Amino acid sequence: MHSITEDEKDIIKRLTARLPPTPPAEPDWSDTSSISNEEAELDGFTQKPPAFPLPPPTNPPQEILDIDSKTPDAHVPRDARLIRLTGVHPFNVEAPLTDLFNEGFLTSPELFYVRNHGAVPQVEEASLFDWEFTVEGLVDRPFKISLRSLMEDYADQIITVPVTLVCAGNRRKEQNMVRKSKGFSWGPGGVSTALFTGVPMSAIIAAAKPTRRARYVCMEGADKLPNGYYGTSVKRNWVQDPNRGIMLAWKMNGELLRPDHGRPLRAVIPGQIGGRSVKWLTKLILTESPSDNWYHINDNRVLPTMVSPEESAADPSWWTDDRYAIYDLNSNSAIAYPAHDEVLPLSTRAVETYDVRGYAYGGGGRRITRVEITLDKGKTWRLAKIDYPEDRYREALENTNLYGGRLDMFWRETSFCWCFWSLAISTDDLAASADIMVRCMDEGLALQPREMYWSALGMMNNPWFRIVIHRENDTMRFEHPTQPALMPGGWMERVKKEGGNLVNGFWGERMGSVVDEEQVMPEIKEDIKMTKDGIDRIIEIDELRKHDTEEEPWFVVDGEVYNGTAFLKDHPGGAQSIISAAGLDSTDEFVAIHSETAKAMMSSYHIGSLSEVSQSILAEGSSDSSGSNTSRPLFLDARGWNSAALHSKKIVSWDTRIFTFQLEHEEQLLGLPVGRHLMMRLKDPDDQQTVVRAYTPISEQTTPGFVDVLVKVYFDTTEQKGGKMTKALDQLPVGGRVYFKGPIGKFEYLGKGLCSINGDRRTVREFRMICGGSGITPIYQVLRAIMQDPNDGTHCTVLDGNRLEEDILCKDELDAFAAGNPDRCRILHTLTKAGDGWQGLTGRIGENLLAETCPSPYDDNHEGQSDTLVLICGPGALEKTAHKVLTGLGWKDDDLLFF
Ligand code: MTE
Repeated sequence: MHSITEDEKDIIKRLTARLPPTPPAEPDWSDTSSISNEEAELDGFTQKPPAFPLPPPTNPPQEILDIDSKTPDAHVPRDARLIRLTGVHPFNVEAPLTDLFNEGFLTSPELFYVRNHGAVPQVEEASLFDWEFTVEGLVDRPFKISLRSLMEDYADQIITVPVTLVCAGNRRKEQNMVRKSKGFSWGPGGVSTALFTGVPMSAIIAAAKPTRRARYVCMEGADKLPNGYYGTSVKRNWVQDPNRGIMLAWKMNGELLRPDHGRPLRAVIPGQIGGRSVKWLTKLILTESPSDNWYHINDNRVLPTMVSPEESAADPSWWTDDRYAIYDLNSNSAIAYPAHDEVLPLSTRAVETYDVRGYAYGGGGRRITRVEITLDKGKTWRLAKIDYPEDRYREALENTNLYGGRLDMFWRETSFCWCFWSLAISTDDLAASADIMVRCMDEGLALQPREMYWSALGMMNNPWFRIVIHRENDTMRFEHPTQPALMPGGWMERVKKEGGNLVNGFWGERMGSVVDEEQVMPEIKEDIKMTKDGIDRIIEIDELRKHDTEEEPWFVVDGEVYNGTAFLKDHPGGAQSIISAAGLDSTDEFVAIHSETAKAMMSSYHIGSLSEVSQSILAEGSSDSSGSNTSRPLFLDARGWNSAALHSKKIVSWDTRIFTFQLEHEEQLLGLPVGRHLMMRLKDPDDQQTVVRAYTPISEQTTPGFVDVLVKVYFDTTEQKGGKMTKALDQLPVGGRVYFKGPIGKFEYLGKGLCSINGDRRTVREFRMICGGSGITPIYQVLRAIMQDPNDGTHCTVLDGNRLEEDILCKDELDAFAAGNPDRCRILHTLTKAGDGWQGLTGRIGENLLAETCPSPYDDNHEGQSDTLVLICGPGALEKTAHKVLTGLGWKDDDLLFF
């Protein structure tokens, strides 16, 4: 049973009472003003904050998410914003890049990325400090010690240090776009930073008196996995080197570790891939050779690029050759701003600049010494500014106590954390460029490569990070390389779909005669056969559903049925990964997550084909959202798709329909704040391609159980092809399913003139709303919210352009708002093909009408934003004209909002 989370309660409250959301508590910890650390009382920070960064405000999750309730992690409360990379279980997640970046230098534990190979060990609160681990192997004095004794016996050695952990798979989705590797698809958010408190591992090792032969320190965790407990090793030499900072930690950002991050005790190995920092630590074993743990051998390697997943599976010697094991991180960087799909209006002012910003990190304690940006594919470079917040801790006094540990930084020369870079670029330069790329170099001169080094595990991906700039009318739209997990989007996917060759040395762009595409084409991979010869059994849906069980789970991929029972024990992600798919069509998830080797194994589990009728029943009944549950209070989920069936279709005019979809239960609210949009996804019945578009429903946000979407259908004409999405929707039979996801969009109307734009609040006295055709729908939502609240004094002028009178959408409702609120609502309709009896305006929305409805709002010496905001939504040509005319009239881009 789902219990409502605080976030959801807040949304419901806002949607029903139209209250502004609770303002976040926002102390500016990044403010490094001149307070010295002497002034600050560091234990508890009762006085002014110190000059080094402290953690951002944290909001520890309290609830078990529905999605986790049937997994072995049903004891772990989690943050719903995290993007799940491997389905429901095990828990492998990253925060959306913008959220992660906005947290600043330190990441709150609830948004810190998680990489769990299996279930999280459950440790009772009462016995937390009784947790024990052993120190054994090649030592003269093996011992076992509890966390309590560790904290007491080594009390004078407790330290606190900021450390960035990075999963070796960070940015792997880019590798998977080139060719599927044996790993799942991380975006660039597999990186996070925290202040860890604990003791140097060297002190504990020394107490056990290692013998001369002891060259490696193996670590083992308490998580039992299909191939034994998770474990790995590092060199003893590194453990003993203070500059390497290797430690055992029990606190993260001043609080005890959260379950996903190793509660109650973990290793922290700074500067190295996250895979070495063993969580839920139970053993330290000194050995002569590297760890023989299955996960040490079979994970965390960069094999030579020509070794395919199949070849590596066929020859075990690739995995035992320690030259290919990875320890220190390589230098890497990514762009956070512009964000993916961010839109920037082209400025008319020549001096305007945009701050391109992102992160970078090096490995092995090496510092990033330069970050460079190119706007011309590497012909010329510009030097970005680098900020190392880590340095501010070094400036603290020597014996500064932080979270019960000495801030062990003033003497340290090595850099264990990410840094931030920024570069102001003129919008004119951006507008003249096709892409922005970043690369960084560390103090050992290790430079990020131009080309990707593809390898079978897809790890350590660090080519130049590239975002593409699209010029669309008078705006620029930015496109990142990928989106994490199965999320669609990114130039790599687009280029691939368009038939481009991502490894032609030019990011898949057609370069005419510059490169010989033929020569650099990668080996074309034959589709991997996942079926078994001689299997001709036809399976019906009822039989499949009988196997929606933990004991004998059957699942469907590409219409074929597989029995996962025999693989439950051996699945690297644990049995739960298969059980979660039981009785379902898991094609998308399977194809995206699994390697070619895994696919090749599938034939052994193939038992038959699902009949065609059963396939369509399964497709209709399936939902992408693995958390789907009939008791969810809100239908929309920003991270996952949920399906709803078409309940009815109302024909409004020859080309306009209102589609009513039925939500999961009668009380369910859509969960879309006023002013924001949702995405709808559908398969085009003509070519089976997936189509996704953004819409704003017209139904009330407070209406439970249903959502109404007003759609103008763009039919094919002799001159041009019609709209893929609108035609597909029009063909959808009642009962047919469409997938929804959201909310999206930067604008939200919070009531009484208060707006939120990209999270920034501003209050407006007046809206000028310019729209055309179905562009009325987002405008209509905002207008209705204002007009329905008698205490909302915000004035609205709507200029709505259409061709014929019957094309005007929501005309009666709009006119009723104006009639009922003459003092605060003016509706102007203009038609390009007005009939004889038309009493309203005529002509296109152009210079005259805009000058009349939107005169410049500024006084002569006006500075900053105005208290009038223009909302614009319509076809591209309308938006382009409006932008040109309004900026010509003196409007500033800050006061124009394009939906
Ligand atoms: N330790 C145990 N016991 N089990 C694991 O699955 N995953 C490793 C490492 N330590 C893992 C583990 C990997 S691959 C990474 S990247 C880091 O933990 C992730 O740490 P985090 O989940 O706290 O971010």
